Amino acid sequence: MKITVVGAGNVGATCADVLAYKEIANEIVLVDIREGFAEGKALDTWQKAPIDLYDTRTIGSTNDYTKTAGSEVVVITSGLPRKPGMTRDDLITTNAGIVKSVTENVIKHSPNAIIIVVSNPLDVMTYQAHLTSKLPRTRVMGMAGILDTARYRAFLAEALNVSPKDIQAMLLGGHGDTMVPLPRYTTVGGIPVTELISKDKLNAIIERTKVGGGELVKLMGTSAWYAPGSAAAQMVEAIVRDQKRVLPVCIRLDGEYGIKDCYLGVPVILGKGGVEKVIELDLNSDEKALLETSRKHVKEVMDVLDKLSG
Ligand code: NAI
Ligand code: 2OP
Repeated sequence: MKITVVGAGNVGATCADVLAYKEIANEIVLVDIREGFAEGKALDTWQKAPIDLYDTRTIGSTNDYTKTAGSEVVVITSGLPRKPGMTRDDLITTNAGIVKSVTENVIKHSPNAIIIVVSNPLDVMTYQAHLTSKLPRTRVMGMAGILDTARYRAFLAEALNVSPKDIQAMLLGGHGDTMVPLPRYTTVGGIPVTELISKDKLNAIIERTKVGGGELVKLMGTSAWYAPGSAAAQMVEAIVRDQKRVLPVCIRLDGEYGIKDCYLGVPVILGKGGVEKVIELDLNSDEKALLETSRKHVKEVMDVLDKLSG
């Protein structure tokens, strides 16, 4: 069982490291365009194996995709991260070219892979990977919702002084400031969150979640990697171990939620076949309006990509 992670930067190397530590595959191939970089990161993770006691092989490659041949899952993290003052959408021109060429190489050597995109702007880079790979929509997906819900859950755990393990939540929409956290689908040990926190405090947490990525960019001068890397690894694990996890994942909607041909985060069942089912929630009018705002925003950026691709 082989997994490839493209981009050996902050997110890609973290993802590969988590996959190795959790022994989710026998072999993990890390690819980067920067000479020797992926080889170095892969060697470092391999040298950690005797300490952390795992036997996953980690192999690095400078742009040689023959080493990735036959991968079951490929995670694409290659591309520029945000700098302070930038939105994710500002990255589109550079990252679209990178995601396109990476996807072409990936598919050439692993035509049956399931692709998980992480590069930003996430929803539109998932569209790019889908256009290039021509795989069924259930096999090309984006990671953002797990990260965004994790931020929401972490903020709630802190505010309520409870374990993050006991916070369950769902979130819809694009990976941006228009994302739609769903208090109606948020529980703490099975108790509706609204019974435990005031409306004002909950709203403040929702607003902080929406700009959670930007908060970290301001603090560090670049975007986050520990939670994003782990979130991508969680998707790989769900697929490889056929766990049928219910997770928010970015996929092209084909009529679900009354939306067609737009890439948005929605709850899905994730297993060996990729996205095995899109779960449709019965949204109230406020939630529908928020999702529509998010759809419009993502569609505008998809249109930019269409223009760029001519
Ligand atoms: P980074 O700069 O640390 O790593 C990116 C790596 O991609 C670099 O090592 C670079 O050499 C490599 N790269 C560039 N072009 C390549 C190509 N053609 N082939 C192979 N490798 C190539 O950036 P970081 O922090 O790892 O972020 C990566 C991407 O993930 C960014 O676009 C960032 O915005 C996005 N991101 C998305 C998140 C999400 O929730 N979807 C969360 C965090 C980051
Ligand atoms: C994040 O949300 C930048 O998308 C990245 O951390």
